[in-house]
Amino acid sequence: MTDTNTYKPREFNLSNLKGISDETLEMHFKLYEGYVKETNNLNERIAEFIKDGKVDQEEMPAYSELTRRLGFEYNGMVLHEYYFENMKSYGGTGDPAPPSAFRQAAETSFGSYEIWKADFVGIGKMRGVGWAICAQNPTNRRISNHWISLHEMGNVAGFTPVLVMDVWEHAYLLDYKPADRPKYIEAFFSNIDWQASEKRLQQPISRSATS
Ligand SMILES: [Fe+2]
Repeated sequence: MTDTNTYKPREFNLSNLKGISDETLEMHFKLYEGYVKETNNLNERIAEFIKDGKVDQEEMPAYSELTRRLGFEYNGMVLHEYYFENMKSYGGTGDPAPPSAFRQAAETSFGSYEIWKADFVGIGKMRGVGWAICAQNPTNRRISNHWISLHEMGNVAGFTPVLVMDVWEHAYLLDYKPADRPKYIEAFFSNIDWQASEKRLQQPISRSATS
């Protein structure tokens, strides 16, 4: 067993959010801890297979299954960390203030913050189990919105998640009916910590050209 690949659940102080109950968060933190645990578990079990320097033919089916599950568990862990980190206790201010870096990035990439928001919210309302993510392309610094199925399908390699919204039903089922996902999305927006989100953002290259 090695501890170099062992993750510890991070702690988030998110009490008194607007429209998302402490009970929901408590349950959600537990679920997140499960992903951390399972990521550690998979890494350990895979390490067992490869410690003799090879994967034998008879080991291949079990080894393959564990390895395929890595993307699900890892992203389940990491996306929850982004999600919890981009909300703030007692709620935020709603939309970012006009001179903000995020608004600037949205204007550069979408034409306006409102168009960016319509796209992000639209993705959040898509049927299915997953996430809405706004990510930045590190090459041209533009932001784009993405639907992620489960935790691992739809992430673009190398893109930086800037704003991450969980739209699995467990994120809101204690507070809203399944059909009321739009209300949860509204609540999510009222809790966004734009400062935390903007820390992930690199300045758009074309900023001077658009200001
Ligand atoms: Fe979740």
